[in-house]
Amino acid sequence: MSLEQLLAWIPPGSPDAALVRQLNPDLLPAHVAIIMDGNGRWAAKRHLPRVEGHRAGIDAVRDTVETSARLGLQVLTLWAFSVDNWKRPRSEVNTLMRLLKRYLRLELATLMTNNIRFRVIGRPDELAPDVRRELQAAEAETAGNTGMEFNIALNYGGRAEIVDAVRRVLAAGLPPEELDEERFSRYLYTAGQPDPDLLIRTSGEMRLSNFLLWQIAYSEIWVTDTLWPDFRCRHLLDAILAFQKRDRRYGGIKTPAVALGAK
Ligand code: FPP
Repeated sequence: MSLEQLLAWIPPGSPDAALVRQLNPDLLPAHVAIIMDGNGRWAAKRHLPRVEGHRAGIDAVRDTVETSARLGLQVLTLWAFSVDNWKRPRSEVNTLMRLLKRYLRLELATLMTNNIRFRVIGRPDELAPDVRRELQAAEAETAGNTGMEFNIALNYGGRAEIVDAVRRVLAAGLPPEELDEERFSRYLYTAGQPDPDLLIRTSGEMRLSNFLLWQIAYSEIWVTDTLWPDFRCRHLLDAILAFQKRDRRYGGIKTPAVALGAK
């Protein structure tokens, strides 16, 4: 897709359309990863139960996925459930799983229309069988799509991912001298995908919280005070515009980002 595809979807003359026109189409991030945070605070501000924040967060997911696909991102990764989120009350965990299933059922058509390939990263084997079935169905249905790859990080932890990769390396019997960074990355959940160029975190927290620890080594980080349920197209565009102003040096010296292939 392209900036034109996005403009066709945004009301003409709107502030969002003005933001799209400021984007440099040659400097788009290939992979954007998002820590969706602040659902609980969004609900608390409205004197609502926490789960209402998660429910409202679905609208932000919908908007972000479609904006990203129309923009032509290669990969979008959203963190929906961490390996530590099992510590939450069972009712909240159950609601999150129910919302996820409902999202997949309702949004499958949109994923197909936008040529999006859906993929789960994390430890899905530890999820309930009905959730796994729904996830596998969405992965299978979208497997032939050739547009944006949409990763949903579920039962995901960055350290767990590295441990899982080491287990796979050992199981493959790879001789230690043949292991290097590029080879190791083929054993990660994100094998075959570019590392995130841009990591977004909502709700103002300045933490990585065990997200994509290997892959974000050189990512640009953008934090917004906006709570996840309020996150929309314009916030993503703001983040990408800020990204396009950064100098990415990868430990080298100052060079125009475009020359470093940071797209
Ligand atoms: C963090 O907010 C958010 C989560 C742990 C879950 C994110 C889930 C969704 C947006 C809904 C389901 C997702 C998909 C992809 C269908 P928090 O609860 O930690 O908020 P707080 O820090 O304000 O308490």
